[in-house]
Formats: sequence, C-alpha cells, structure tokens
Amino acid sequence: MKIIPIEPDHALVELLKRSGLPTSDINQPGSIYFFGCHQSGRLIGSVGIEICDTVAMLRSLATHEDVRKSGFGQALVKHAELNASLMEIEALYLLTTTAADFFSRLGYQHLCRQHAPAAIRETNQFSDLCPSTSSFMRKLL
Ligand SMILES: CC(C)(COP(=O)(O)OP(=O)(O)OC[C@H]1O[C@@H](n2cnc3c(N)ncnc32)[C@H](O)[C@@H]1OP(=O)(O)O)[C@@H](O)C(=O)NCCC(=O)NCCS
Repeated sequence: MKIIPIEPDHALVELLKRSGLPTSDINQPGSIYFFGCHQSGRLIGSVGIEICDTVAMLRSLATHEDVRKSGFGQALVKHAELNASLMEIEALYLLTTTAADFFSRLGYQHLCRQHAPAAIRETNQFSDLCPSTSSFMRKLL
C-alpha cells in the first residue's frame, strides 16, 4: 500500500464526512500535513498531522468502511508518526470518541485534558470541533 501526501480537497472532505469527522478546519492556513492512500483511484484512507510548535495533533484518521479492519488505519498512523519524527516533533496528541482502544494498541496513552500543552489547546480540534467527552491521548515519539 502506498501512502502519499494529499491535498485537503473534496475527496478528503467526503471521506471525513462519511467517517463522522470534522471538515471545517482542513483548509485553515497553518501547518497541517495530510497523507492518504488510494484504491482504484479512490481515496480510501487519510490521516493528518497538525504541527503545534514542537508537538502535533494527529487528526483526520479515517478509512473507507469498505476496507476497514484490513490494516490501513494502523499503517496510516505509523506513516504519520514517521513523518512527525522526521519533522522532529516530540509528541503526538489526539482526540477521539470512537477509537481509543485502537490507539491504545498503538502505544497512545490517555491524558487529562488539563495537561494539554498550550499550543494543542489552541487548535480548533481541541477547542471547538471535538466533543468535550472525547478521549484525549498522547504518544511520545
Ligand atoms: C479508526 C479507523 C481509522 C480504523 O481503521 P482500520 O482501517 O479499520 O484499522 P486497522 O485495520 O489498521 O485496524 C487495526 C486493528 O484495530 C482494530 N480496530 C479498528 N477500529 C477500531 C476501533 N474503532 N476501536 C478499537 N479497535 C479498532 C481492528 O479490528 C484491528 O484489530 P486486529 O489487528 O486485531 O484485526 C476506522 O475505523 C475509521 O475510519 N473510523 C471512523 C473515524 C475515526 O473514528 N477516526 C479516529 C479518530 S481521529
């Protein structure tokens, strides 16, 4: 499976929407890098890293329902982690309502929201878009 950089275009919006994830901030100016994988020309997986100083939010992780439980989700997370490491990011943070167990298996640990670094608190994902009941998790790279 080939994972490549992608633009925040209509294909990404469609995948995120059908996966129940926010789309309103994907075109915001700043440092969000998106990666994706395709099957028969169709975007079937995505992940983003939103750089916040020396740490980042892992976000917009989605796989098309037709291909779930085939290893794409895990591969996308690994790809995001590798790219974050290459950018000398020290830790990845995320918010999820549905996939905390998935991320636990990949080494992410639950964290109290009060312990979020200031730069993470300022992201739209943290302050507005993800419900306050979301699990907040971190992995040190
Ligand atoms: C979460 C998501 C990306 C997982 O994608 P996937 O392609 O199914 O992931 P994988 O195939 O790599 O799964 C790896 C393992 O995690 C398990 N898993 C997948 N989704 C899970 C979830 N939501 N909770 C717990 N475990 C999960 C799989 O069963 C698999 O287990 P196995 O290795 O024992 O077979 C996908 O379900 C999705 O797009 N969900 C909707 C959007 C979302 O919740 N995104 C995360 C918040 S940013």
